[in-house]
Amino acid sequence: MDSIRIRGGKPLYGKIEISGAKNAALPLMVASLLTDETVTLSNLPHVADISTLINLLCQHGADAKMNGQNDANGCTGGRTLAITARNITSTEAPYDIVRKMRAGALVMGPLLARVGKARVSLPGGCAIGTRPMNLHVSALEQMGAEINITGGYMDAVAKNGLRGAEIRFDTVSVGATENLLMAASLAKGTTVLENAAKEPEITDLIKLLRQMGADIEGDETDRLVIRGVDKLHGAQHRVMPDRIETGTYAIAAVITGGRLELTNTEAGLIRSVLDILIEAGAEIVITTDGLIVSRTGPGVRGVDIMTMPYPGYPTDMQAQMMALMTICDGAAMITETIFENRFMHVPELARLGANITVHGHSALVRGVNRLVGAQVMATDLRASVSLVLAGLAAEGETVINRVYHLDRGYERLEEKLAACGADIERIMAV
Ligand code: UD1
Repeated sequence: MDSIRIRGGKPLYGKIEISGAKNAALPLMVASLLTDETVTLSNLPHVADISTLINLLCQHGADAKMNGQNDANGCTGGRTLAITARNITSTEAPYDIVRKMRAGALVMGPLLARVGKARVSLPGGCAIGTRPMNLHVSALEQMGAEINITGGYMDAVAKNGLRGAEIRFDTVSVGATENLLMAASLAKGTTVLENAAKEPEITDLIKLLRQMGADIEGDETDRLVIRGVDKLHGAQHRVMPDRIETGTYAIAAVITGGRLELTNTEAGLIRSVLDILIEAGAEIVITTDGLIVSRTGPGVRGVDIMTMPYPGYPTDMQAQMMALMTICDGAAMITETIFENRFMHVPELARLGANITVHGHSALVRGVNRLVGAQVMATDLRASVSLVLAGLAAEGETVINRVYHLDRGYERLEEKLAACGADIERIMAV
């Protein structure tokens, strides 16, 4: 397995182009299963999850062309992907793919809506918590699907097709909202989703579905009304910028005491993160295609954060902000309300000298004067990048092992950071 070596302590200066959002691209790609025409997506990021999902869509019978080339397996060399699911030849989403990437389970709603059946592996637990599928399952059952869970699979059929329903989610779920939006777009009658997620990736999905002919109202609110249509058609769409990548590099500027210009993005997507950074002592300048982030003083002020559904502070930015707070003046209380086990980075940050105590869902971070490089282990995607950030600030050498998690979600991370002065390199496994 590859690892990343960082010699820290260098302020970063320069420009970083932000990639398209992985978490938007995945559901947008799945939406292509709703039509026999071609859905073309541009501004796709080059990350491993995209290739994994292409493989899944192809095994359902879709044809995928990257930059016009029929290269379904490689598929990492382009940014424009045309997916045509003329015929659905298999309705099974196998364990081997869904266990690697939970977004694979999003095919359930579209397959049920299009062909009336789906057999989808349960994603299983993952490092950040149990991550159940109950909200997806019960909402699709309310739309007329019969779902049996046996042998690790959700076997779903909708003999008479899906029909509109009034659904209230107990918990705000990004994935369940996406799954149901897609299913309801092709169902008979009107579906109302109450307590729906409002994340910008949901708004991006609604934009594509609308271009495909869907009738959806309520974007950016927690009540979505979807009037089902008989048929959806092909469309073209540009994937929104990655707000988590944007926030991560914003923190890279502040933690190293440098100045980074982030382009091809929108500051408005990470308002809650920028508010905390400003309180911590960062200066933010909004530009026409992104923002410039720098640290104003010598230190970082401790600021408390609590993760919440959008527009609150994103759980996917919790680990990175914790890395920043390890070197704050004073202390910061970081509370995680979305996932029950999302502090896997704490013992690894401690190996670099951080002083963090976890009490249930909260972590008390007492700032230290300096971090010192060490060997650490990446545990999940965002935890991994928090170790990169801490390594950039630490004195001496940090080696981060098991970086395949990073490759799932960050495009050319070492290259982007090295171009701004970071001393960072990938050590390939032999
Ligand atoms: C998506 C993002 C992930 C982000 C998360 C929260 C993608 C590919 N992934 O994940 O990066 O961390 O949103 O912003 O976009 N829940 C249930 N039952 C369900 C579904 C969810 O109880 O059936 C719970 C989860 O355990 C969690 C909460 O709801 O506590 C939110 O999870 P959810 O929004 O569904 O996360 P994902 O869509 O999987």
